[in-house]
Amino acid sequence: MEHTIKLHDRHFRVMIPAAEIDKAVAAVAARINEDYKDKETPLFVGVLNGSFMFMSDLIKKIEFNSELSFVKLASYEGTATTGDVKCLIGLNNSLEGRHVIIVEDIVDTGVSIERMVRDLERLRPASIAVCTLFFKPNSYRKQIPIEYKALEIGNEFIVGYGLDYDQLGRNLKDIYVVTD
Ligand code: IMP
Ligand code: MG
Repeated sequence: MEHTIKLHDRHFRVMIPAAEIDKAVAAVAARINEDYKDKETPLFVGVLNGSFMFMSDLIKKIEFNSELSFVKLASYEGTATTGDVKCLIGLNNSLEGRHVIIVEDIVDTGVSIERMVRDLERLRPASIAVCTLFFKPNSYRKQIPIEYKALEIGNEFIVGYGLDYDQLGRNLKDIYVVTD
């Protein structure tokens, strides 16, 4: 029987082994190295929690001087009216005039990345590009251009390499897909 793991109530099997993820990360890093080699100290902005492992591997393959920061979209405390008002926390660097590369784990419908890009645009960076480990083209319904997509998948639900199923599975070094 095929090896599966259990997270909460669901079973998962390996879909993309670590070696294949590494190749995809290397390919996307090579493109970024080429595109940004003459730009003034670009800033990588990782979106927590999902992007931590991707960022760690990606940044080791970057060959130009760069800075790194992590942000989180957190529920806004102060207006108790709605739970989905989110604000950006964790950004200590000034973004004005900077070349910013947002690093995401996965872009699905695009709602989250659109929100992130709109918030960062207000800080007047010189440019913003999006780099995502996974992209779900059949699910995407926004206009924000996604310049760097390491891997494209269908609408299946995946975990591992930073991605979670209700907070479990982030530690896995391969990508797993739900089986039931
Ligand atoms: P979007 O706003 O619909 O693009 O959703 C993006 C967020 O949904 C990601 O940052 C993930 O937290 C979550 N997500 C979407 N698809 C998956 C998946 O297949 N596995 C784990 N999380 C996912
Ligand atoms: Mg995320």
